[in-house]
Order: sequence, then structure tokens, then C-alpha cells
Amino acid sequence: MALLDIGEVSVKFGGNMALTEVTLAVEPHAVTGLIGPNGAGKTTLFNVICGLQAPLRGTVSMNGINIAGYAPHERSQRGMARTFQRLELFGSLSARENLQVGAEIPRRFADPQSPADRVESAMCLVGMEAFADMRADRLTTGQARLVELARALVTRPKLLLLDEPASGLDADETAAFAQILKGLAGAGMAILLVEHDIPLVMKTCNKIYVLDFGRIIAAGTPEEIRQNPLVIEAYLGSPAEVAS
Ligand SMILES: Nc1ncnc2c1ncn2[C@@H]1O[C@H](COP(=O)(O)OP(=O)(O)OP(=O)(O)O)[C@@H](O)[C@H]1O
Ligand SMILES: [Mg+2]
Repeated sequence: MALLDIGEVSVKFGGNMALTEVTLAVEPHAVTGLIGPNGAGKTTLFNVICGLQAPLRGTVSMNGINIAGYAPHERSQRGMARTFQRLELFGSLSARENLQVGAEIPRRFADPQSPADRVESAMCLVGMEAFADMRADRLTTGQARLVELARALVTRPKLLLLDEPASGLDADETAAFAQILKGLAGAGMAILLVEHDIPLVMKTCNKIYVLDFGRIIAAGTPEEIRQNPLVIEAYLGSPAEVAS
């Protein structure tokens, strides 16, 4: 059974369908990619999954339990965490303090690790010790993206939703980021990755879904997606541009 199951989710904004009958599954021990052109509906789907956007129709299940009626904080308590496309750190707090805020979220089950321990573990996982005491609004984009990831990790999620986490990262930072994601998936996490950096997606993901105008037009392995004519037409462009 997948950790997250999205069943025929539709979302309408005014007269426009932002999502139409989207079905996808996110498995543990894997990175699942969600790609597609600007405006395809990727962030809207994240908002449905984490409870910020009510769907018109469709189901969202975690571990087989329908979580449609759960508020965002209840989804967090059940093991869901996300990052945002636009960086959403508390600028006047230090990097470490941004993590402490996340670590204080009440937990549904007793956790052997204290909030302080979870902060230290998350900092270590992403490698942010060097700038832990800097104000968040003084960090480079690459550092700030790591803090966002670490803040999601302090809740020790089973399901991690990442909305364009490599946006603004240079090549070295992106390579390091890919290693972190593989490590998290290797340890059992279910990761749903929205990203326009196609080489990163191709290298990191076990399975990829492609969204176009609110509909899933393809799903498969990186190799299958790379060669899919519909995906090349809608998003990827010529095969040469997709070389990883
Ligand atoms: N709150 C809203 N009200 C009305 N329309 C919205 C709202 N949020 C998103 N939309 C529209 O829904 C569609 C999907 O937007 P969404 O932000 O989900 O796309 P996306 O795939 O994340 O794009 P990008 O790659 O640029 O981040 C777009 O046409 C967008 O303008
Ligand atoms: Mg988006």
C-alpha cells in the first residue's frame, strides 16, 4: 500500500479547472517526482494534500485512512511535512530558531527524541551547522532552502512534500541536495518532489508523474518519461534538452 494515495482529485478556481481527476500514489523508500509546465497545478495539488485547499471532488488517503476532513496541523501530526515554493522562513529568527518553531509542534505519539534533539538531528542531516546562528534573512538562497528542508524534517515526517526545493541552488548545492534526498528515501521516507530542474528529477526519482493543464498525462520511470512523446511535446522539449 502506498503511504499517500490521491484519488481522482479535482479543483476548480472560479470557472477554471486547476486539477481534473488527478490520481497518484507516493510510496515509502522512494522519491516520486511531479513535473509539468508553469500553471499545470503542481502547487495546487500540494495544497490539497496538506489541507490548505479543499478539492471539489476526490480522495486523499494516508496509510489507507481518508484524511479529507483533517486540518493541516492534524496532517502534520500524522507524519506529513512540506516546504514552500517561495521561501517561507521567519527572517528575524536564526536558522536554528526556525527549526525550533517546527520542533515544538505537539506530537500525536510519544517521541523518544526531545524537540532539542530533533533540531540537532535535522541540522546534521542537511549540514547546516555552519550557519545555524545566522539570521534567516541573511542566508543565501541555498542555505535558506536547506533550513526549510530541515524545518520540515524536525517533525520527523513519514511523507515529505517538496515544492521546487532546488530553485535558486547552484550546481554543487543541487548535487548535495540530491544526495540528501536519496539518503532520506533510503531511510524509508516517502518524498513527493515538484521540481523544474529536470536533470535533478531524472537522477533522484524512482517514479515520475507529469501534470499538464491539471491532468496527469504520463507516469513512469525516468527513462519512460524521458522518451514519452506526450511529455516531450508538453514540457520537456527535444530529447537532447533532457539529457541528464
Ligand atoms: N488561489 C487561486 N485562485 C485562483 N486561481 C489559482 C489559485 N491558485 C492557483 N491558481 C491557478 O491554478 C493554476 C495552477 O496553478 P499552480 O500554482 O498550482 O501551478 P504550478 O504547476 O505550481 O505552477 P509553477 O510551476 O509556476 O509553480 C494556474 O492557472 C493558477 O493561475
Ligand atoms: Mg508551483
